[in-house]
Amino acid sequence: MVRLVQVSASYAPQTTCVLNDISFRVSKGESVALIGANGAGKTSLLLAITGILPIRRGAVFIDGDELSKRTIRTAQRKTGLVFQNPDDQLFMPRVYDDALFGLLNRGIAEEEADRRVRETLDRLGVGHLADRSPFRLSGGEKRLCALAAVLAMEPEVLLFDEPTAFLDPKARRVLRAIIRSLPHTKLVATHDLDFAQDLCSRALILCSGALAADGDPAALFADAPRMTAWGL
Ligand SMILES: Nc1ncnc2c1ncn2[C@@H]1O[C@H](COP(=O)(O)OP(=O)(O)O)[C@@H](O)[C@H]1O
Ligand SMILES: [Mg+2]
Repeated sequence: MVRLVQVSASYAPQTTCVLNDISFRVSKGESVALIGANGAGKTSLLLAITGILPIRRGAVFIDGDELSKRTIRTAQRKTGLVFQNPDDQLFMPRVYDDALFGLLNRGIAEEEADRRVRETLDRLGVGHLADRSPFRLSGGEKRLCALAAVLAMEPEVLLFDEPTAFLDPKARRVLRAIIRSLPHTKLVATHDLDFAQDLCSRALILCSGALAADGDPAALFADAPRMTAWGL
C-alpha cells in the first residue's frame, strides 16, 4: 500500500538530507509504528509519504503508483495525515466547517459532505462539538475533531504524528482505543512504546534520518543496548 525505495529528502535544495536512503513497504491493513528520538525524522517521513516534503532521491509509491506531479492528487486522496498539533490542522471557526472544508474542496456535493461530516463526528463521540470553535476545546477533543476531519475524507492509509502526546491518561486511552478500532492501513509515529507494541505488529526505528531497524516491536524495544544507541 505504501512503498519507499531509497528515499532521501531535505527541506531545501542545497541543505543536508533529513531522510537518508529509506526503503520499506507497508501492506494493506498493516499497522506499523514509527519510532525515533526527537529530530530522528518521523514527521519528515510522514510529510514525504503525503508528498508535502519533496524527495531528492528515490521513490514513494502509494497503492502501486509512484508519487509524481501527475499522480499526486490521486495519491493524496488515499493518505490522511493527522498532524501532531491539531492547531496546525483546525483553523475554521467551527469544528464542523473544518471537516466540511476538505470535502467541499474535493468537489463533493454539500448534502453528501454534510452527511459524512456529521456521521464521522458522531462515530468518534464528538458530534456535540460540531458548532464549537476548535480553539476552545480540550487537547483530547481537538485530537478527535482533527481525526474526524481526516476520516471524513475516507483515506485508505492513516498517518498519525504522535497522536497521544500531551494528553491526560483518560484522553490517551480514548484515542488509543479509537485508533486501534480503525480498519485502515496505519503508520503511527509515537514515543509511546506500550501503545506501539499493543497496536502494531511491526516497528520501524528511525535514527538520524536513516532506517535503523524494522521488526517486531517487543523484540526491538527489549534490546536495551540498541535502544540506547538509537537514543531511545
Ligand atoms: N521545516 C523544517 N525546515 C528545516 N529543517 C527541518 C524542518 N522540520 C524539521 N527539520 C529538521 O529535520 C530533522 C528531522 O526532524 P523531524 O522530522 O521533525 O523529526 P521528528 O519528527 O522525529 O522529531 C531535524 O534535524 C529537524 O531539525
Ligand atoms: Mg515530529
